[in-house]
Amino acid sequence: MKGTGIFISLEGIDGCGKSSLKESLHAYLSKYEVVSTREPGGTTISEKIRAMLLDIDNESMLPRTEAILYAAARSQLVEEVIKPALSAGKIVLADRYIDSTLAYQGYGRGLDLDYLLNLNHLCTGGVKPHLTLLLDISPEEGLRRRKKVIPDRLEKEGIYFQEKVKEGYLNIAREEPGRIKVLDGGQDHEIVLAAAIKYIDEILQHK
Ligand SMILES: Nc1ncnc2c1ncn2[C@@H]1O[C@H](COP(=O)(O)OP(=O)(O)O)[C@@H](O)[C@H]1O
Ligand SMILES: [Mg+2]
Repeated sequence: MKGTGIFISLEGIDGCGKSSLKESLHAYLSKYEVVSTREPGGTTISEKIRAMLLDIDNESMLPRTEAILYAAARSQLVEEVIKPALSAGKIVLADRYIDSTLAYQGYGRGLDLDYLLNLNHLCTGGVKPHLTLLLDISPEEGLRRRKKVIPDRLEKEGIYFQEKVKEGYLNIAREEPGRIKVLDGGQDHEIVLAAAIKYIDEILQHK
């Protein structure tokens, strides 16, 4: 792989299958050097911010506080992990990135999208994924799939919030069809994986 590496992000509402897909893609890409991240988190400082963000006791957290904390965690992750990996020609598989902020804090919480884009541009220096795979599922299916896990602060938001986030994601995808590919996350894992691999292979061929 010449020049810079490849940055792939996985997006979608809770329970859509991002973590499962990331694990399978990591295995599929085993002949490459792959760095895998999750948000919020992925560095010592970002994990501390993650604890604050997901703490169910932080009920009074304002949407803008939430947005700024996500951006701060992302800022640290980009500088410490993503940029060095891309400079070294590696593949970065990110479980969530900027589109999560647009979908959750923008479409979900109602914060201004341009404000969020500017904030995130500042915090990432403009580092963007080459490819984003959006796993689209219904909020009901997402809830069914993760009902065994104790929900965190954002997962506790109801179906109506998840619906706004899902629709937000689809709007974002419509604006950047070249980068963001929508996959039907309601299909069997193997089918979702095959569709994801098709897009990734296209990028690998052009490297
Ligand atoms: N395509 C799929 N079909 C059915 N169940 C799935 C599929 N993908 C993931 N799951 C299951 O749904 C749950 C949530 O998946 P996960 O990958 O953790 O989602 P996310 O990381 O997006 O929240 C897990 O129990 C996982 O095993
Ligand atoms: Mg996950």
